[in-house]
Amino acid sequence: MIVTTAQLFKHAYGKYAVGAYNINNAEQAMGLFRGCIQSQAPFIIQISKGARKYTDKKMLEAIIRAADQIFPEAIFAVHLDHGDEETCYDCIKSGFYSSVMIDASHEPYAKNVEISKRVVDAAHAKGISVEAELGMLGGVEEDVKVEDGHATLTNPAEAEDFVKKTGCDCLAAAIGTSHGAYKFKGKQSLHFDVLKEIQRRMPGFPLVMHGSSSVPQDEVKRINAAGGTLGSAVGVDVNEYLPAAKLGVTKINIDTDGRLVWTRVHREFFRDKSGEFDFRPPGKIFMEEYAKFIASRNQLLGSAGQLESLRASLGK
Ligand code: G3H
Ligand code: 13P
Ligand code: ZN
Repeated sequence: MIVTTAQLFKHAYGKYAVGAYNINNAEQAMGLFRGCIQSQAPFIIQISKGARKYTDKKMLEAIIRAADQIFPEAIFAVHLDHGDEETCYDCIKSGFYSSVMIDASHEPYAKNVEISKRVVDAAHAKGISVEAELGMLGGVEEDVKVEDGHATLTNPAEAEDFVKKTGCDCLAAAIGTSHGAYKFKGKQSLHFDVLKEIQRRMPGFPLVMHGSSSVPQDEVKRINAAGGTLGSAVGVDVNEYLPAAKLGVTKINIDTDGRLVWTRVHREFFRDKSGEFDFRPPGKIFMEEYAKFIASRNQLLGSAGQLESLRASLGK
């Protein structure tokens, strides 16, 4: 059942974080739904601009509608990840998305406010909620690369002003993470001080953590043992997910870790079965492994086991 992102946030705030997982194809969708049913967790499906272009945006919508029928127990929202203004309008118009993210964080502050507010006005007119971003994460998104030294943490006073001016429903705050597999050099920890101060200024306001993959080291080792060349890849400490959730981080975005599962499964499969050329046997393994991974993440986010209580709160 597709619900609004706001309904998920209301149930989760301050208690647990909802996992927001990116999908690009049917295999990821199957693994995601299976993992969330296994762990009895609500979730958010994220679709990036790149994912919309990979096959066709209509294909992804059809996959999600089909998964909704295959897994009638599932409760989830559908979200545009890292949208530009034009893509946000396209998703708002489509009527399929529960929420959109307008990512104008690379623009100067006033311009970010101006663009985000325009998207909020258009989205709210259709009952869709909006995630905006303030502060800059390091790493690479589809067409924006932020070099290490240029990443900036969110300023809590500015965050308060930004939310007032834009009317956005949740805010992606930069608290030290970055996208991709190479997040930290040396000590790795989230900036809980920033979260605490934002929560003090805006109690009850949902925050979003991007760049939340943990880059499991055993996964990296297995990939490299099967021919990969991932360097010193390091991610977020999974034990910091729940403390962040308690401070108002209600949505935790995980994509890279799923790509690592895919890479490990396929590298190992073709290393061990070098004569194989059918994509279905490794695809089946991937769906199972991805489901296991998702269920394990939902445990760490605290969203596992929340499905029935959420259903009751929705009166369904
Ligand atoms: O933050 C970006 C997400 O991991 C989506 O990645 O733009 O390559 O689909 P993508
Ligand atoms: P990771 O690259 O850490 O998985 O982050 C994903 C993300 O933030 C999607 O918006
Ligand atoms: Zn992101």
